[in-house]
Amino acid sequence: MRKIVVLSGAGVSAESGIKTFRETGGLWEEYNIEDVATPQAWQKNMELVQRFYNARRKQLLEVEPNPAHLAIAALEEHFDVHVVTQNIDNLHERAGSSKVLHLHGELTKSRSSVDPELIYDINGWEIKMGDLCEKGSQLRPHIVWFGEMVPELENAARLAQTADILIVVGTSLNVYPAASLIHYAPYDAPKFLVDPNELFVDGVTNLTFIKEKAGVGMPELREKLIADWA
Ligand code: OAD
Repeated sequence: MRKIVVLSGAGVSAESGIKTFRETGGLWEEYNIEDVATPQAWQKNMELVQRFYNARRKQLLEVEPNPAHLAIAALEEHFDVHVVTQNIDNLHERAGSSKVLHLHGELTKSRSSVDPELIYDINGWEIKMGDLCEKGSQLRPHIVWFGEMVPELENAARLAQTADILIVVGTSLNVYPAASLIHYAPYDAPKFLVDPNELFVDGVTNLTFIKEKAGVGMPELREKLIADWA
């Protein structure tokens, strides 16, 4: 079975009703990154950071995977598919993808604020102030904030390096190190980029740009990949 690595970003969940970050009307227009998504924000105002991620988690309970998530999951019938996502939602898993690596953490989990190894599933949508880990420290969202290490980066790079086919979908490729992963894919591997907006991608060989929303472009790409490569 050929190996497909899918690098996904906020755009893949846009048609499920989850806002992207950098577009007009995106989340980073409403909030400052420095106020909600950095270790400094956590030190300064834990309640605000909790409220921000609690709201994201609450919304996640109300949305469903869209045709793009489903098309990616259905590729597993024909390929060895690994999803590397910058998204903190669980829509890839809920669509049926079995191998999903979350580069920037997971909304559905909490973590000790003193021991990063202590990670817990969250029931419902809320981490409350006063919810503690087993070592007695406040639970924080299990999110990789700006300025923090990306623990899964090496695993993601190894996947990209061994991809027979790379798909990049719904990411502005603005945030590093995630954006660098596209450069790890083998020179001769076919690469597909699905995004409704023009993106400037430099120095990537064998790249086909599918200028469509993910909910249209991914099901189309799935058919093409099965016809040409399965
Ligand atoms: P961005 O908001 O930067 O980019 C979203 C991309 O999705 C853009 O290229 C859009 O053109 C595209 N897009 C919009 N609607 C789409 C649709 N229906 N189908 C396909 N594509 C669509 O989001 P990311 O690149 O995911 O990190 O952002 C990367 C990281 O920045 C996030 O993981 C988050 C954020 O700050 C952290 O919070 C650590």
